[in-house]
Amino acid sequence: KTEKTLAIIKPDGLLGNHTDDIKRKILENGFSIFREKIVQLDEATVKRFYAEHSAKSFFSSLIKYMTSGPALVMVLEKDNAIADWRALMGPTDAKKAKITHPHSIRAKCGLDTEKNCVHGSDSTKSAQREIFFFFKELSADVIADHD
Ligand code: CMP
Repeated sequence: KTEKTLAIIKPDGLLGNHTDDIKRKILENGFSIFREKIVQLDEATVKRFYAEHSAKSFFSSLIKYMTSGPALVMVLEKDNAIADWRALMGPTDAKKAKITHPHSIRAKCGLDTEKNCVHGSDSTKSAQREIFFFFKELSADVIADHD
């Protein structure tokens, strides 16, 4: 079933000139880029986006990282997009990814468990929330692929 997911190339990914490689990988793997925009996140926006991590010890560091420069936010579309994009990204910890998933995006452009270069929604529910978070103009039906 056609599905949409939210992908972010984080500030380290954009700054490190990984964008072209990542986009080539996205298209080679059968995704289409349904929407994309560059955003400069501010502290309040990152706090709302990552609200579920607000109690974690790394939260303030995550805010600093995500506001350190522009990010590229994309809506990706394909069959099984949510799980397939997570597989293509590789594990959260880019250091581990280099060993266990050497061809993954995080292995190639990430640094560690925080500076992991890319984000992807982890479930249908978060995909819908995260797509609407950044693309308010999209209707719930379009986001959920109801025709
Ligand atoms: P992401 O998949 O976008 O979801 C939450 C983010 O928090 C994660 O990628 C990392 O950037 C960061 N993160 C997750 N775990 C840790 C950790 N243990 N230490 C520091 N940052 C983390």
